[in-house]
Amino acid sequence: MRDADLDEVMRIELRAYPFPWTIGIFRDCLRAGYPAWVLEAGPRLIGYGVLSVAADEAHVLNVCVDPDDQGQGHGRRLLRGLERVARGLGVQRVFLEVRPSNPAAIALYHDEGFNEIGRRPRYYPAHEGREDAIVMAKELLPDALTRMPS
Ligand SMILES: CC(C)(COP(=O)(O)OP(=O)(O)OC[C@H]1O[C@@H](n2cnc3c(N)ncnc32)[C@H](O)[C@@H]1OP(=O)(O)O)[C@@H](O)C(=O)NCCC(=O)NCCS
Repeated sequence: MRDADLDEVMRIELRAYPFPWTIGIFRDCLRAGYPAWVLEAGPRLIGYGVLSVAADEAHVLNVCVDPDDQGQGHGRRLLRGLERVARGLGVQRVFLEVRPSNPAAIALYHDEGFNEIGRRPRYYPAHEGREDAIVMAKELLPDALTRMPS
């Protein structure tokens, strides 16, 4: 993701989330050098993901697919791509937060090997007050360990 992508990114962000990031948050992430990637289908930007990495831990800060393109495997592809980036940076553990009211994302994360490790009470803004965050984590095992003999 580059500054030049941010208009397209915001076009998706504003439609995909009830409480979207501002363009300033994306700019700050880019300036801080956070790994940030876009997913393109031909000339169209259809999704993106942002990570923060510190030592051997990564945090998925945002993963998002254009509402017009959801349900076609792009979210899974993005998440796996972010995981590959994290592995390449020596990350051993990936964390993320998700709203309990976001069953699609929770199902994707479970399916990709994330487990719930806790909750942050009243973490997110919500239409009526605040909403908890489910905190999930995944250990990135060495490739050799994830391929069990049949
Ligand atoms: C969460 C999100 C990234 C998933 O992307 P996607 O491209 O729609 O998901 P995929 O097509 O790759 O689906 C992967 C898996 O996610 C789960 N999933 C996706 N959509 C789902 C839905 N509507 N209901 C239940 N599970 C769903 C399924 O387990 C699915 O696997 P399957 O197709 O084998 O059943 C997408 O819905 C999105 O961008 N949402 C808005 C932004 C957001 O909430 N991001 C997460 C913040 S924590």
